[in-house]
Amino acid sequence: MQGEPDGTSAATSTRTGGTASDGAGRGPGRFDVDGVTVRFGGLTALDSVSLFVDPGEVLGVIGPNGAGKTTLFNVVCGFIDPNEGVLRWRGERLEGLKPHKLAGLGISRTLQGVGLFAGMTVLENVMAGATSRAKAGFFSAALGLPGSDKDERALRDRAMAILTDLGAAQVAGRYPGALPYPVQKRVALARALVNEPDLLMLDEPAAGLGSDEMDELGDTIRHLSGRMAVMLVEHHMDLVMRVCDRITVLDFGRVIANGTPAQVRTDPVVLAAYLGDEGGNIDIDAAADVQRHAADKQHKEA
Ligand SMILES: Nc1ncnc2c1ncn2[C@@H]1O[C@H](COP(=O)(O)OP(=O)(O)OP(=O)(O)O)[C@@H](O)[C@H]1O
Ligand SMILES: [Mg+2]
Repeated sequence: MQGEPDGTSAATSTRTGGTASDGAGRGPGRFDVDGVTVRFGGLTALDSVSLFVDPGEVLGVIGPNGAGKTTLFNVVCGFIDPNEGVLRWRGERLEGLKPHKLAGLGISRTLQGVGLFAGMTVLENVMAGATSRAKAGFFSAALGLPGSDKDERALRDRAMAILTDLGAAQVAGRYPGALPYPVQKRVALARALVNEPDLLMLDEPAAGLGSDEMDELGDTIRHLSGRMAVMLVEHHMDLVMRVCDRITVLDFGRVIANGTPAQVRTDPVVLAAYLGDEGGNIDIDAAADVQRHAADKQHKEA
């Protein structure tokens, strides 16, 4: 069932010049991971992985513990250089992708955990997520430099609008440390959205959330997908099945399936990967639950 990125998506590029790495082009496009291999010493964490996410699409990346999901996320975010393979964004090859280049390329991410600045208010945290150009206005305003009031006001308005959208406007003036964890996660998401990304990468956004909060998160992700592509690495099968248009399944670093939620949840290869052996009568949700508990435990210990 695996989809084959065809490498011809340059035809759909909206860019007008420059290279993908300079961040000059913005607008929707396809993100391709093409034949990516990552080795840690003798261990192959990703083995010739190819997948893609199209504009406006929510792609779920799932797989049992140790399947390579976080490694894949780290490759797409530029934290890990693959040993082999290429990344393409809007049809153009990304060379030497580094995390600090992401925002300029129109790609935002939230990491596991929240990572907010304790000494800044919620609103300032969201504003601090802006690209360096927008931020120049923000910091020069903070230093009382002239000519930056308009930029700062625009950025502040944008940050406030996003917080309002995510139902967190009422905590804009608070410090993150005093807020419940689910609210902190919403703030972290707002910070990722302040650059109005074309691709949003979410690494286990549901970790630590209750079921009501997870439903809200699902609605938020669906709502966002009207404006951007979303790649969702997640253990919570119910969320993944509900919000994803398509799901790519990894196991031992390889893509073992790619299809709609309905296709994936009944795919015997996927069931076998989650269940290990034959698995008896347990379904994929129950099997994924076991995996998720292990990951949540790890997450809490981190
Ligand atoms: N920095 C590293 N050094 C060595 N091995 C690593 C490193 N990071 C990951 N691995 C190994 O690579 C494999 C894939 O790990 P990864 O964290 O990507 O899996 P995962 O699918 O995210 O798992 P989980 O569901 O438990 O979060 C595992 O065998 C893991 O032990
Ligand atoms: Mg992981």
